[in-house]
Amino acid sequence: MRPLFIGLISGTSMDGVDAALVDCSGPEPRLAATHTGAYPEEIAVRLRAAARSKGECGLAEAAALDAEIAAVFAEAVLALLDGARCDPDRIEAIGSHGQTLLHAPDARLPHTVQIGSPARIAALTGMVTVGDFRSADMALGGQGAPLAPVFHQWMFGRSGETRAVVNIGGIANLSVLAGDGGVTGYDTGPGNTLLDSWARTCRGEAYDENGQWARSGQVNAGLLERLLADDYFSAPAPKSTGPEYFNLHWLERAGISDKAPEDVQATLLELTAASIAGAVQASCAGAALAVCGGGASNSFLMERLSANCPESSLVTTEAWGVHQDWVEAAGFALLARARLLREPGNEPAVTGASRALPLGGVFLPS
Ligand SMILES: Nc1ncnc2c1ncn2[C@@H]1O[C@H](COP(=O)(O)OP(=O)(O)O)[C@@H](O)[C@H]1O
Ligand SMILES: [Mg+2]
Repeated sequence: MRPLFIGLISGTSMDGVDAALVDCSGPEPRLAATHTGAYPEEIAVRLRAAARSKGECGLAEAAALDAEIAAVFAEAVLALLDGARCDPDRIEAIGSHGQTLLHAPDARLPHTVQIGSPARIAALTGMVTVGDFRSADMALGGQGAPLAPVFHQWMFGRSGETRAVVNIGGIANLSVLAGDGGVTGYDTGPGNTLLDSWARTCRGEAYDENGQWARSGQVNAGLLERLLADDYFSAPAPKSTGPEYFNLHWLERAGISDKAPEDVQATLLELTAASIAGAVQASCAGAALAVCGGGASNSFLMERLSANCPESSLVTTEAWGVHQDWVEAAGFALLARARLLREPGNEPAVTGASRALPLGGVFLPS
């Protein structure tokens, strides 16, 4: 088996396609090159509308987007290899998470939809492509999420030491990496998704850079308390969530019409920090803690997370060897490798599936 794999993901933030080239020839996986592919604005607008529609966007639109964004993913692969001056023949496989349009782990028959056809990616790149990573776990009673704790253990686990990783994407998730190789974890709740939605609604900005707008407001203690009282935060694991649940409708139900917009933003940032800190306190108080995902680049959020986790010294995963922006994409490269080796990619203690199994379907280019 060749040692080079490519991981692809666009998370719920829909801020672009992350592509990571991972070299597995050494004792630890090494990030060899990275590339971010942008969605054309017209596609980004349709994707956000489709995700907001909770499945009501229609089959024709979902199928069209499935095909259109597969082309964006494939272009990201080719640009990644071009930038790295790497011959495509050296790649063993691509692992493509795709773009989640719907995640319904609590449905009568739990289901989840990631678009960005892996068959098309395989055809357009000429490379073996592994996709549909979540369905098999769900078929065995799991949430199909989060998948990150397993690859966080592969990347960052240390024998004899408990470590924790928080990934702050659209949704935030916590991984607790035990020193004996065991792993637990769950989605803690909103990461950037409410902050982004509120900034977009009030200011037409994709996100609140470094939390500057949040910093200009005051946390509303009553609103924060009502938001934190949501049952999701105290529910036991396994649990996973998405913007289908944590969205502006959810926020509006807590009563915000009489609040200054910047105070709402300040309160939302504190909600992300406090809900993550609550999970850290409950699951791994005192463990060494590293943060990844776009939220790790938000300096005010990191400041507030640090203040809410006084027992932990906070670093970004860059300090542990993989830059915060590339952990997830690299993880799907490793999951593709595990699939080809027929090794498990899920952890029943995390997802609730009845057993561990290799994840993903394998698409051959010809
Ligand atoms: N400098 C920054 N300041 C504030 N927020 C940031 C910054 N950089 C990234 N982000 C946030 O990170 C998000 C993207 O994070 P990412 O980990 O890619 O999420 P996802 O996995 O959902 O795509 C952006 O939408 C934005 O909210
Ligand atoms: Mg992203």
